[in-house]
Amino acid sequence: MIQIKQVVATCMAGLLLAGLALLPGTTYGQTIPSLKDTFKNDFGIGTALNNAQFEERDPQMTQFIVRQFNMATPENIMKSALIHPKWDTYNFEPADKLVQFGKKHNILINGHTLIWHSQLPPFMRGMKSADSVRTFFNDHIKTVAGRFDGKVFSWDVVNEALNEDGTMRKTVFLDYLGDDYVTEAFRLAQQAAPNTELYYNDYNNEQPAKRAGCIALIKKIQAAGVRIDGVGIQGHWHVGRVPLKAIEESILQYAALGLKVMFTELDIEVLPRNFQGAEVSQRMTANEQSNPYTAGLPDGVQQQLAADYESLFKLFLKHKDKVTRVTFWGINDGNTWLNNWPIRGRTNYPLLFDRNNKPKSAFYKVVALKN
Ligand code: XIL
Repeated sequence: MIQIKQVVATCMAGLLLAGLALLPGTTYGQTIPSLKDTFKNDFGIGTALNNAQFEERDPQMTQFIVRQFNMATPENIMKSALIHPKWDTYNFEPADKLVQFGKKHNILINGHTLIWHSQLPPFMRGMKSADSVRTFFNDHIKTVAGRFDGKVFSWDVVNEALNEDGTMRKTVFLDYLGDDYVTEAFRLAQQAAPNTELYYNDYNNEQPAKRAGCIALIKKIQAAGVRIDGVGIQGHWHVGRVPLKAIEESILQYAALGLKVMFTELDIEVLPRNFQGAEVSQRMTANEQSNPYTAGLPDGVQQQLAADYESLFKLFLKHKDKVTRVTFWGINDGNTWLNNWPIRGRTNYPLLFDRNNKPKSAFYKVVALKN
């Protein structure tokens, strides 16, 4: 009798353990905290999603995403090259799937992005008349923002319109539409998407000169009586060199304009780089030193990364009345774009979860701020 009881008890314990390992909040049978729950009274927690992820190709990954994040930005599929591949052809299918994914799992979608000089459709290359650029600009914003009004929570209306010194970046839009094109983009988005929050997004716009340019741009939009709801600081930073002072100053200055402040593409890379920023067309040549951590991240770097994330989140929490969202650019170190940019095929470690979705020291430092 005792033996039977023991066998039953052992089986039950085994089943319980197996069940625990399958629970969404667990990796390797251990329960881990959820980022979105940890910061639920502070700000939204987002991630960038690729097709495999929002198509739910891997059920474990889906569970993981749904447990950790309550906001998401498509990594590529809403960029003009993908959603508007030919002059009169739009491909809404992936974006529709993404919207469905968000609805099903209570994840708010940030559309990214309507007007950007990179990842433009091929027909925009070599476009040489103001009339055609204007037609693309109007039709694109009207059609895409209109289609997803009320379906996405927000749009990055314009992405990366500024140079490092705060002047307007030379793009096909600036060349043919002139200085006011950013205001015009917001005006069109406001008409097409009255129920969607509208943001300006850039990298390095926490740096003083670029920030000043960004503030001037925002004031211009506001002075024209056009709606802008928030500003996104992408947050592609480097380990040991996160510009905390400039970030805090930026949160204060942008919030003083009446805008929500967001960190929209957060990652802290650990590999060598000979330039700053996140211009996607910029590349670096590989050498013997450019991919040093293929066998794993040294403990010292891991600790520095954890300390950087801890300081950043401390700052975000200090200004939680102004910061509305923190979005990581990717889910784990295995799927970050930084494994392939600015050099292909490197082994990078910029996020809170490792290649098996296991939390890193940085994750524990960040969640400990709330405990
Ligand atoms: C990146 C994607 O992550 C890559 O998959 C793609 O090849 C290039 O673009 N700033 C942005 C993002 O606003 O859209 C970029 O995303 C990263 C830099």
